[in-house]
Parts: sequence; structure tokens; C-alpha cells
Amino acid sequence: MGRSETVLDDLVRSIRLSPKYKYVAPEFIRSVGKIELTRRGNLKAAVKATKNKLHQIAGAYLPGRMAYDVWLRRLADATRSADPGVLRSTCVEIMHHHISTRERLPILDAFYATTLADLGPIHSVLDVACGLNPLAIPWMPLADRATYIAYDIYEDMVAFLSTFMGMVPVRGKAEVHDVLRYRPGEHVELALLLKTIPCLEQVDKEAGRRLLDAIDADHILVSFPAHSLGGRRKGMVAHYEESFYKLIEGRGYSVWRYEFASELAFLLSVR
Ligand SMILES: C[S@@+](CC[C@H](N)C(=O)[O-])C[C@H]1O[C@@H](n2cnc3c(N)ncnc32)[C@H](O)[C@@H]1O
Repeated sequence: MGRSETVLDDLVRSIRLSPKYKYVAPEFIRSVGKIELTRRGNLKAAVKATKNKLHQIAGAYLPGRMAYDVWLRRLADATRSADPGVLRSTCVEIMHHHISTRERLPILDAFYATTLADLGPIHSVLDVACGLNPLAIPWMPLADRATYIAYDIYEDMVAFLSTFMGMVPVRGKAEVHDVLRYRPGEHVELALLLKTIPCLEQVDKEAGRRLLDAIDADHILVSFPAHSLGGRRKGMVAHYEESFYKLIEGRGYSVWRYEFASELAFLLSVR
């Protein structure tokens, strides 16, 4: 093993000691760490820079303790209720614990009903960098036993989501996967790229283009936040819209645009 590999092992180990990054996939920490180590040249500075990056793209969305075991018990109880409203309200409460997913809650009833109105029932979904969004499955126009594949970088989050998906009528799997390394996978009817592109582009400027190249889907729902995590709105919608149209230029999609109070969404359909 070369010296740089040993230094990277130390970097990953040191970052995973922090409770905040304990469950982040080691391969992902390693690939972010490698870039920072090349830039900074020493371990201490690279550890600090890697933590900052992980905060920006993942940690900042998880403001508190994730009580996955408690939530699974509550979800299991909710699925036993004859009233489907009980499951929905339990999902809403849990979705509050991921800031990006939380921001969608005030518009959740309209979000999937509007953007996916002409697609349902959908038989297969790929949810890229999903956060807690799979808990919104009860709001999506899915076929019974639809396939639902979800990826994120938190080991504990994907284990929770996999168990949750076993409780609702989908054939679901959530996996730890660094979507910056996503290669063309199985074909799906719908891919969700919700508020993912600006986040991933903080690590790799080409992330949006690469994902659009790699995803094999009839339709892709892409969205952008209408304000920053700090609440700043000025010019964000116009900025994201302009860069999005540049990104899809020449790809020949049919495009539908939807603007909600907290999110700007585009449904792309392959012609
Ligand atoms: C802005 S949030 C969006 C969450 C979700 N799509 C939503 O809109 O509710 C970004 C998510 O991407 C995840 N993430 C960041 N980098 C990733 C990567 N390289 N591969 C997979 N997931 C990643 C973070 O953990 C976080 O949950």
C-alpha cells in the first residue's frame, strides 16, 4: 500500500470518529478526502476541509439525532391502522428530520400530484441522493408493487429506508451509493433528481451532466431549491433555471416547468 493510501485510511478513520459522519459511506469520505488531500497537502488540513465539504453536501441537512429505531416502531404501528392518514402523518413527522425533505412538506400534497399527474401509475422509480424522500411514497402515483430504488451516502439512513419500504406496497431497496460514480444502471420509468444537482456540483462541477448521461429513464423529475439553506431567495430561481436550460441543451427532452413556493421543478421526458 502506498503512503497516500495510508494517509487516506487515516483521514477516513479520523472523520468517522465524529458522531456526525460515523455512518457516511467510507468510500465516499475517501473520494472527497482524496481531492482535499491533493489540494491541501497535509492530513490535518485535509481532514478539516473534508469535514467542511461533507457538512455542505450532507451533514447540514440533518439537524438533529436520527431516531431510526423509534421511527420504525412508529411506522410499523401506523401501517396497522385502518386509516391511511395515520401512516401519512407519521411519515410527515419523520420527514421533518431532513431539512431538504422538510422544505417540501408545505407543498407535498401538490408536488407529486402536479408534476406526475400525467404519468401514473408508475412502475419503477430511481431516487438519486434521496434523503428521507422515500417517506413521500404514499403521495406518489405508483403502481401496486412498483420498484423503488433509492441511493444516499448514509448507511443508517438507507437501512432505515429499506425497512420502511418493506412496510408499504412497493418492491423497494435503499442502498449506500455515491451517485457521483453512478454508471448507467437498470432502466426505470421515473428518476428523481430532487435538489440534488446543486448539492453534488459542490464536489464535482460536472455532476449534473454526468447524471443525465448515466440515468436510463423515460422521465426525470429534476428540482432546485427556491432558497438557500439559510433562507436567502434573491435570484436563486432565475439562476438555477438558466443553468438548468444550459445543462439540458441539445438533449432533446420534452420539458415541463413547475414553480412551487419552496422548489422549482422540471419534468423531462425522453422523446
Ligand atoms: C439537498 S439533499 C436532497 C435530498 C432529497 N433528494 C430531497 O430532495 O428530499 C441532498 C442529499 O444528497 C445526499 N448526497 C450528497 N452527496 C451524495 C452522493 N455523492 N451520493 C449520494 N447521495 C449524496 C445527502 O446525504 C442528502 O441527503
